[in-house]
Amino acid sequence: PRLWLIVPAAGIGQRMQAEQPKQYLRIGERFILDITLSRLMDSAPFSGCMVPLHPADHWWPDTEASGDSRIQTCTGGSERAGSVLSALHAMAEQVKDDDWVLVHDAARPCLDTRDLSNLIDRLYSHPVGGLLASPVADTLKKAVTAELPEVIETVDRTGLWRALTPQMFRYRILVDSLEAALARDLPVTDESSAVEFSGNMPVVVEGRPDNIKITVPADLALAGFILSQF
Ligand code: CTP
Ligand code: MG
Repeated sequence: PRLWLIVPAAGIGQRMQAEQPKQYLRIGERFILDITLSRLMDSAPFSGCMVPLHPADHWWPDTEASGDSRIQTCTGGSERAGSVLSALHAMAEQVKDDDWVLVHDAARPCLDTRDLSNLIDRLYSHPVGGLLASPVADTLKKAVTAELPEVIETVDRTGLWRALTPQMFRYRILVDSLEAALARDLPVTDESSAVEFSGNMPVVVEGRPDNIKITVPADLALAGFILSQF
C-alpha cells in the first residue's frame, strides 16, 4: 500500500488570539505550516499530500509548500473532522482502499521524525491503523462540576494515553468511519475516535510527549525551544 498525507490547516486559531490563524505564525523565519509540512514530506515516502484550508484563507500562496507539486489544497469544513473528510474525498480518485492515510495537525511542528518512521513501521501490516500517543504523566483528578469543584476521586492512570498525531489509518476504514460518525453527530475529536465508533480497534504507538499542539500564545516559545533541540 502507498502512503498519503493530510495536514488539516483550516482552523482559525481562536485560542491563540493572533491576527492570523496560528499555522501562519512564524517560528524563526518560517510559517509553522511550512515547518510541519517539510518535516513530514522530507521524512517519509508520501505519494501525495492534501491540505484543507479555510475558505477565506489568503496566506497559502505565501508558503513554501505552495510551490511543492506533491502538495495539493482543498476547502476545509467548520470542524476538524469535516476538514479531514473533505481532504479524503478530494483524494478519492488517486487512493486505493487499503492505502495508508496519515493525518497530522498543521499546528504540531515539533514531530520527531523518528516517531513518524516508527509509527509507519509498526502499523504498516496492520489491518486498521493507529496513532502516536504518550502515556499520561500527571495525577488525574475527577471532580464535581461546581464553582469550587471538589475531588470525587483520583483516576487510575494505568493504560491512559494522550492522543497525538500523526494518526494513520487505511483509507476506506477512515472515510467510512468519519462519514458514519459525522452523520450520527458523534463527538469526533480525532480520527481514532471515529474509527473506534465504527467498532475497529486502533493501535497506540508511543511517541514523544513534546509533540505539542500549538494552542495558546505560550506554546509558541515552547515550540521554538523544542525545535531548537532537534
Ligand atoms: N482544523 C481544521 N479545520 C477546522 C478546525 C481545525 O483543519 N475546522 C485544524 C487546525 O488548523 C489545526 C488542527 O486542525 O491544525 C487542530 O485544531 P486546533 O488546534 O483546534 O486549531 P484551531 O481550531 O485553529 O484553534 P482553536 O480551536 O483555538 O480555534
Ligand atoms: Mg479548534
